[in-house]
Amino acid sequence: MRKVLVIGAGGQIGTELVLRLREKLGSENAIAADVKADCPPSLKDGPFVQLDALDREAVRNFIIDQKITEVYLLAALLSATAEKKPDFAWKLNMEGLFTILDLAKEGHLKKIFWPSSIAVFGPTTPKDNTPQRTIMEPSTVYGISKQAGERWCEYYHDKFCVDVRSIRYPGLISYTTLPGGGTTDYAVDIFYQAKLGNKFSCFLEKDTRLPMMFMEDAIRATLDLMEAPAENIGIRSSYNLAGCDFTPEEIADEIKVHIPEFEIGYNADYRQAIAESWPSSIDDSHARQDWGWKEEFNLKDLVNVMLNNVNVDLLTQH
Ligand code: SER
Repeated sequence: MRKVLVIGAGGQIGTELVLRLREKLGSENAIAADVKADCPPSLKDGPFVQLDALDREAVRNFIIDQKITEVYLLAALLSATAEKKPDFAWKLNMEGLFTILDLAKEGHLKKIFWPSSIAVFGPTTPKDNTPQRTIMEPSTVYGISKQAGERWCEYYHDKFCVDVRSIRYPGLISYTTLPGGGTTDYAVDIFYQAKLGNKFSCFLEKDTRLPMMFMEDAIRATLDLMEAPAENIGIRSSYNLAGCDFTPEEIADEIKVHIPEFEIGYNADYRQAIAESWPSSIDDSHARQDWGWKEEFNLKDLVNVMLNNVNVDLLTQH
């Protein structure tokens, strides 16, 4: 019997992941948790609890009392925000992970999902088709926290048999919840401005290529990884995962196929250096071999679905 807790359920990944887990396991078996007191409207038909990932005792008590078997720990500061609040980013991104890893080590949890990121790579990493195992010298607070987290996940698996699984997500594109604080978020904002008929000012240069993925692919990958037999999981740090990759100019050109009058301008800021330190494209052959990963959405598909579904009212609700 699986009973899962999604911590950080109000975020970009959490809102969609909880819905899919509820479809699979029944609403009562997929509990949403977030630091914000209000349950996101789309998750109101199932259990919700206010939990601060940094409140170790509260998280421990809830997981033990509710006999949770599986945790998805999504609470984190993303790359751009983490550069502005480095102390807090390190604290949030690491302490929450130890709380959950320790619960699993003590036998209270059967399985953990913890997201890593393409941010674990750095300026010295080979940029094209970046391999699973390569030079990793991340230059952002976020990347350093994710790399350290990956090392701890593998350590807890190897030393204490903790069944922890992870994906190095690329930039995630979705329309149900606005992302916050990421360097790849321009590729979500662009759709809102295109729908509003505004000229889009991009904070990255036009030829900055980054790995990206449509959220539906990311959720399917997460569920597949978590359901794969343990013996198939050859990587206990975190799996490289690729969807598609594109530059701001390429996504703008694809939007223009649908909205010919759409305009984009380029005003790079501090996020340009972050983006330049990351890969352009990812080799995900381990995920393909170990648990059958295959992406479904390319740039064309993603632009199509986004333009049909983004709701500009979300901008005023936040
Ligand atoms: N999308 C994330 C970011 O830009 C990368 O993990 O911070």
